[in-house]
Amino acid sequence: MRRIDDAGELADLHGCVLVPTMGALHQGHASLVRRAAVGDRPVVVTIFVNPTQFGPREDFSKYPRTLEADLRIAEAAGAAAVFVPPSDAIYPRGLDAARTEAAAWPLPPVATEPRLEDAARPGHFGGVCQVVARLFDLCRPCRACFGEKDFQQLRVIEQMVQHGGDRWGDLRIERCPTVRERDGLAMSSRNRYLTEDRRDTALGVYRALQMAMSAQRPSTAETLMRETLQDHGFEVDYAVVRDAASLRPVTGLEAPCRALIAARLPEVRLIDNMAMPIWR
Ligand code: PAJ
Repeated sequence: MRRIDDAGELADLHGCVLVPTMGALHQGHASLVRRAAVGDRPVVVTIFVNPTQFGPREDFSKYPRTLEADLRIAEAAGAAAVFVPPSDAIYPRGLDAARTEAAAWPLPPVATEPRLEDAARPGHFGGVCQVVARLFDLCRPCRACFGEKDFQQLRVIEQMVQHGGDRWGDLRIERCPTVRERDGLAMSSRNRYLTEDRRDTALGVYRALQMAMSAQRPSTAETLMRETLQDHGFEVDYAVVRDAASLRPVTGLEAPCRALIAARLPEVRLIDNMAMPIWR
């Protein structure tokens, strides 16, 4: 497996399958790499903790950085190369200019209308679109894999590419299912912030989604999720059932919908989501 630090070395990897990450890789990331490796194109994993998608009070500086272990996980899962760009390869005009650009990024509707992550983390999707667009420009992939774990992000990238016209050719975005621990907790780089005695509390998010699955209608699902989260000691940012495409409130019961949760413990904010059964 090659390690690439210089964007100039990416030229012979154009047409690759891209797996963008911020590192601190776990088996969720590895499943994206394995999925990307299906076919005959080389898989390029990118590792870049993108400063422009973190808010001023968020965890950019303490975000876990575990490069040596990441390289081993990427290689074992089938990556041909790992691109670990220095900040100036992504933002050649410097970080201040990049932050200004991110704040003015022309966002697709699913990044501004749902009032989910867009409301809880203002500016976040500007930074995500900016860095992912830059990685697509540099790597020119034919496919790119994203996890359903970050469902709104996945929809934002899908819409960005849809609205991007010819900018990235026939680039296809592939959805990869959420990988969970045996007990149901969705794997996340941020689970490293959980202390041993918080581990069980964290399961409240999965339990809340399971309660939603058992509900007879969306409004009941929302009530059950909120109660379950509060019982486990979470501050709830949102616990909702939404249209699975627009992520806006459900209007009828015909369209597929998705339960989405963001909830905070003192040391960590967890997000998770699940496809809901069809209610009729
Ligand atoms: P990161 O949080 O490192 O996640 C990288 C990719 O792994 C995302 O597509 C995410 O949805 C997926 N992922 C994370 N946990 C997963 C799990 N348990 N199961 C399946 N997939 C999982 O998301 C980002 O980085 C950044 O915002 C990025 C897109 C790289 C832009 O900076």
